[in-house]
Amino acid sequence: MIKISASVLNADLSNLGEEVRRVHASGADMLHIDVMDGVFVPPMTLGDVVIKSLKDKSDIFFDTHLMVNCPSTKLLENFAAAGSDSIAVHVESQCDVKAMLEKIRSLGCKAAIALNPPTPIESVFDYIGFADMFVIMSVNPGYGGQKFIPESLEKIKALRAELTRRGANALIQVDGGINESTAPSVIEAGADILVAGAYLMNAQDMSRAVMTLRSSSALLHSR
Ligand code: DX5
Ligand code: ZN
Repeated sequence: MIKISASVLNADLSNLGEEVRRVHASGADMLHIDVMDGVFVPPMTLGDVVIKSLKDKSDIFFDTHLMVNCPSTKLLENFAAAGSDSIAVHVESQCDVKAMLEKIRSLGCKAAIALNPPTPIESVFDYIGFADMFVIMSVNPGYGGQKFIPESLEKIKALRAELTRRGANALIQVDGGINESTAPSVIEAGADILVAGAYLMNAQDMSRAVMTLRSSSALLHSR
């Protein structure tokens, strides 16, 4: 069953507590939190302190995506303590990726590794066994509401094939430009979790939009 992780990057950030409640009520499986440090990508968004205050408001799975140049051990500890259930670090970050993944697991969180559109998929193969989830970015990171990059589909297929070949059960998350038009091919390519930001936040009825993304998978699976 495909899972939906709702990104609040394009939510009304002046009213974040209410937006998180809206996500939870929509039936989305996870809350995707885009943490940007102003270095790895130009914008700065929110950090562990904000996550901690949101965690008190909702028991949804907190799926934290660090677009951070070099997340320190202390920073990972802070995000875990704040209530992150999973923490994704980028393969392009300037720190020891294996050490970060091990640290994240040792903190009791699911460890995830993300890669940008220009980065070859083979660059994450070394982390199979170290990561619980792979995040394939299907837009260049930094902003919500961008157009899905179709070349991402081949990367999803290649990673799915490699995970199967190696008998690994890590999940594949796809992040960026997901909507009712792009979701079916992403699911068909082998995704387990879809991150959706603008599509869900701008929907008149978020629950219906979550169901639309999920039902695009049901259609495929009934073939
Ligand atoms: C981009 C972020 C994504 C983004 C997804 O840097 O990592 O999570 O918010 O938003 P949409 O679905 O609007 O592309
Ligand atoms: Zn993200």
